[in-house]
Amino acid sequence: MNVTIIGCGYVGLVTAACLADVGNDVCCYDVDQDKIGILESGGIPIHEPGLHEIVARNKAAGRLSFTTDAHRAMTHREAIFIAVGTPSGEDGSADLQYVLAAAHEIGRHIEGFTVVVDKSTVPVGTARRVRAAIAEQLAQRGANPMFSVVSNPEFLKEGAAIEDFTRPERIVVGCDDDVPGERARDTMKRLYSPYNRNRDRMLFMDVRSAEFTKYAANAMLATRISFMNELANLAERVGADIEAVRRGIGSDPRIGYHFLYAGCGYGGSCFPKDVRALMQTARDEGQTLRILDAVSEVNAAQKQVLVDKIVARFGEDLSDRTFGVWGLAFKPGTDDMREAPSRVLIAALLERGARVAAFDPVSMKEAQRALASDLRGRPEALARLSLVEDQMDVASKADALVIMTEWKAFKSPDFDSLKARLKQPIVFDGRNLYEPPAMEELGFEYHSIGRPG
Ligand code: NAD
Ligand code: UGA
Repeated sequence: MNVTIIGCGYVGLVTAACLADVGNDVCCYDVDQDKIGILESGGIPIHEPGLHEIVARNKAAGRLSFTTDAHRAMTHREAIFIAVGTPSGEDGSADLQYVLAAAHEIGRHIEGFTVVVDKSTVPVGTARRVRAAIAEQLAQRGANPMFSVVSNPEFLKEGAAIEDFTRPERIVVGCDDDVPGERARDTMKRLYSPYNRNRDRMLFMDVRSAEFTKYAANAMLATRISFMNELANLAERVGADIEAVRRGIGSDPRIGYHFLYAGCGYGGSCFPKDVRALMQTARDEGQTLRILDAVSEVNAAQKQVLVDKIVARFGEDLSDRTFGVWGLAFKPGTDDMREAPSRVLIAALLERGARVAAFDPVSMKEAQRALASDLRGRPEALARLSLVEDQMDVASKADALVIMTEWKAFKSPDFDSLKARLKQPIVFDGRNLYEPPAMEELGFEYHSIGRPG
């Protein structure tokens, strides 16, 4: 099938590479010249395990191309995916300017029947707006090709994106109940048939329900995390161990083990913004999603939890202290720094006068950019931050080590060497990587989340 993907970000690039890998002819279109330049010259603008190889082999096979030429990208295509960003607007709602710009571009170029696939995470009712934007452009051109807009939200996780895309739990598709909608449904079935093995993973529904499903899923997962974080904070007070509690409740299949890990708050490009957008949708409808208000508030507080523990240990004034930080990305397996808890922690430590030396196995460049932007206008604070290329060097002469991301490389470090480098053997662990009794035996003062210590 001839397919175009609009937007070469995490979702667009993964979708494009995976669809090309099963034999489709895929064209990637982006307005970002630099990104297209990198992709054309064999590079990858993001860190996603396994993606580079798939992109390279499909590009070499002539099934995957990159362009900033909208006409080339959008004529004679059976399906065009919109996979552009939907960041938070000022009021928390999803900013649809990129989605609607893509829709206008589609309307300017399509010729024959085209299935337009909303893959971006968009509020209920967006497909209707996309349809109107395309129709407006077609009317201006005096053109009248048939098209149908379907909602096909994406559920992949960064760091596991290829696996999630090629072995999905479910493929949600919202189609209209009319003739173009029926045709679109067939197109989507054919397109996804390689990933629909063993059992039928496709869930067809109406467009609005598909749009809603995406927000409901992310909000449910964010709720589990915030709830576990609140329980962890209570566990500390009552002397229980949240890890034992997690195993205890996760063993109930009605609860399940996934997404029950307490930590220093959820980050990333999606949970925070999607929770905000769903809250705003509710407000627009005259409803308050009280649970999501709490989920968001708990998460903001949880990003401060390690700061509170550090202040409780060292005092409010940290001006003669140095902290080593392991992990900057919002989670392992990605270089994505969007809404990463590390940004809140580092800003808070610098605010209190501390020096910070930080390391991340893959997101040093992204971190440099994100932290410089957070500290814009505060050159004196920025000067106290150093990004260090060696994992162990961040601990040198530090008053404590703070762990913000559970990268594999942090799981079994050389504890003796770590102890020798730290001024005092103190670890604040926002991801519960180690066992408290083992850390005590190794001679560390160990502060974790929701565990006795
Ligand atoms: P991203 O910011 O990484 O990439 C978006 C890309 O779209 C950028 O390269 C940008 O230049 C391009 N773009 C913007 N406007 C354009 C236009 N008019 N025409 C062509 N290209 C344009 O975004 P992302 O993380 O891939 O997310 C995309 C969407 O998918 C969002 O709605 C997000 O909520 C959703 N989503 C993301 C993930 C994830 O893990 N990142 C997972 C599921 C769903
Ligand atoms: C999340 C969802 O898991 C995907 O299904 C969805 O497609 C995506 O958002 C999206 O809409 O963009 P992602 O943001 O890549 O994926 O990462 P997650 O693995 O979900 O982690 C999000 C945050 O929650 C991270 O900061 C992680 O550290 C935190 N988390 C996760 C916890 O604190 N505890 C957990 O048990 C799980």
